Amino acid sequence: MIKQEDIAKILDATEIVDVVGAFVSLKKRGVNYIGCCPFHNEKTPSFSVNPSKGIFKCFGCGEGGNAVNFLMKHEHYTYPEALRFLANKYGIEIQEVVLNDEQKHAQDEREALFHVTEFAQKYFADILFNDTDGKAIGLSYFLERDLTESTIKKWGLGYCKDKYSDFTDYAKKNGYLEEVLIKSGLTISKEENHVKYDRFRGRVIFPIYNIGGRPLGFTARVLSSEKTKAKYVNSPESDIYSKGKVLFGLHLAKNEIVKQDLCYLVEGNMDAIMLSQNNVENVVATSGTALTVDQIRLIKRYTKNVTILYDGDSAGIKAAFRAIDLFLENGLNIKIVLFPDGEDPDSYCRRLPQEEFKAYIRDKAENFILFKTHLLLEDAKDDPFKRSSLIKEIIHTISLIPDNIERAAYVQQCSSKLNMQEEVLNNELNKLLRQRHFNQKKQEGDIVEPPADLFLDNDTEQSFITPKQSEKQILAETFPDESQERAIISLLLNYGDKETTQLIQDKEETYLVAAFLVGDIVTDQIEFDNKTYQAIFDIYKSYLFEKGELPSLHIITNNQDKAIQDIATTLLFNNYSVSPLWETKGIIIPDPESQDKLNQSIKDCLLSLKINKLERKINVVKDKIKQETNEDDVLILLSEHKTLLKIKQIIAQELNRIVTK
Ligand code: GTP
Ligand code: MN
Repeated sequence: MIKQEDIAKILDATEIVDVVGAFVSLKKRGVNYIGCCPFHNEKTPSFSVNPSKGIFKCFGCGEGGNAVNFLMKHEHYTYPEALRFLANKYGIEIQEVVLNDEQKHAQDEREALFHVTEFAQKYFADILFNDTDGKAIGLSYFLERDLTESTIKKWGLGYCKDKYSDFTDYAKKNGYLEEVLIKSGLTISKEENHVKYDRFRGRVIFPIYNIGGRPLGFTARVLSSEKTKAKYVNSPESDIYSKGKVLFGLHLAKNEIVKQDLCYLVEGNMDAIMLSQNNVENVVATSGTALTVDQIRLIKRYTKNVTILYDGDSAGIKAAFRAIDLFLENGLNIKIVLFPDGEDPDSYCRRLPQEEFKAYIRDKAENFILFKTHLLLEDAKDDPFKRSSLIKEIIHTISLIPDNIERAAYVQQCSSKLNMQEEVLNNELNKLLRQRHFNQKKQEGDIVEPPADLFLDNDTEQSFITPKQSEKQILAETFPDESQERAIISLLLNYGDKETTQLIQDKEETYLVAAFLVGDIVTDQIEFDNKTYQAIFDIYKSYLFEKGELPSLHIITNNQDKAIQDIATTLLFNNYSVSPLWETKGIIIPDPESQDKLNQSIKDCLLSLKINKLERKINVVKDKIKQETNEDDVLILLSEHKTLLKIKQIIAQELNRIVTK
């Protein structure tokens, strides 16, 4: 449990641009930052972050909230996990109740896995630097491989002693449950003979982190060159670790990837670490697994440009071919650098002076089509059969590119490389595209003739969604005063802390906007039809009445009630065009710079709300009059009706409107 006051401290310290910017590439646009939404697939940015209000909002998919909500959604943190992450990031000490054994039992599995993994990471790193064996075996291994101490610390590397179950025993002594240790894969349990031992014993440890820098699992390397042992042993898949969904080193590389607008992709962990030590920090490793679409999506959040740095051997080339197709299908631009025989990025980087290596990977980067063409051409030589299958192979790769202008450019390049007419290549390409289109439709059970023109851009992705007409109508029918109520809440949220000067009985008085609005609405006993608006209003009311102060925006944007969060973020972003319905009523939302406009809007909004509520009341009374049979009661109702009409007239006059009866 985190104390309420600590939560407030954390939220106050949090800079949303920092938090979101760690996962999304953001660009400043006016008072907001914009980027491509990480929660749905999009090409044009519709995701906004407002630093002063501490909120984000995607106008494409509707996702929105504050930094905590962002982390919960993006990193799949629980609420306390997200808060702890922020506390840690901003160096805020939180006083948590120390867990007793029983509570440790009770904590949810993911949290437990995170904890034990974090504990293990610290333990292995500590052994590496402070234990006799750790230093003599583990540390000396890393140093021999030219890693500096600061690199070792930066990556959190470690060593697990070759002592059967030293780690497991130590973890258990520290209150970690055997069951969790086994689930995390740190401990191996042999049911037959009831033994438990350390999975990584006798190996150097490379922690694998999530984008936020939290350890999820490990990959551990043998020290000897014994062929009997696997070179690497990895953590098994668990509730927190899935090897196809992480990229080794991304937590350290992401900022540099954004800065350079380029990501280097290597295979080995050592390659990534060594390059990063040599000032090529925009590098991530696939850790020997076949590249997955999830991993490509991770990269795509930061850049669309990838350069693959693979070994020049046949395995490396094969892996590169596969990666190329996958990258292209996912709309990334891809280049390749191969290293001379027998070299990998790690060894080559150590061989060359830093600047020379940088120049090598920059200048030798070949676009995929030239790369593939060169290699295949070499193989095919003048054999006509081989040449024809080579062309098919390359056309296949080009056909995977989603953008048709890019496709055309590649056809052009390829035609000159292969010494072949563009037209021939285009025919081949079109055949392939048609076939694919046809197959797709067939699969969807919707067999149609392939369209004549496949060069139509059928990108239907919507980048900016405005409320649909029907939605507006539904809202208007359910809540007839929707737009007026919304306007008041928007004023509270956006300008509540500003001042306003209003005429009260012919005297000018200055109030805090929120105090004026709340006071006026409470006095007139107006209730909001929309429950969420009422809830937000009540938060303001209780803060002002009970504490004499304004609620901080966090209270609302971080509210447990998701509906409150959503509406608040929407209104905080849309303060210039609160509601389409509202606009039609001719009410202009104030420009925050102009005090006069703000004063006027507040008055208009209140009057407009009141007149609407009044109209509804008048209708209710009218209905009652129709149904009432008791003459005395009819008279009372008639007089009430008259009074209401009179009030309405006064308000309407103030609003400069003509009353239509
Ligand atoms: P060094 O030999 O220390 O330079 O390691 P490396 O990282 O360069 O390894 P290598 O190029 O042989 O392999 C690339 C990546 O494949 C490694 O980083 C591992 O992630 C993975 N890998 C290699 N061998 C094994 C293995 O035996 N088991 C598993 N699970 N993964 C391996
Ligand atoms: Mn290597």
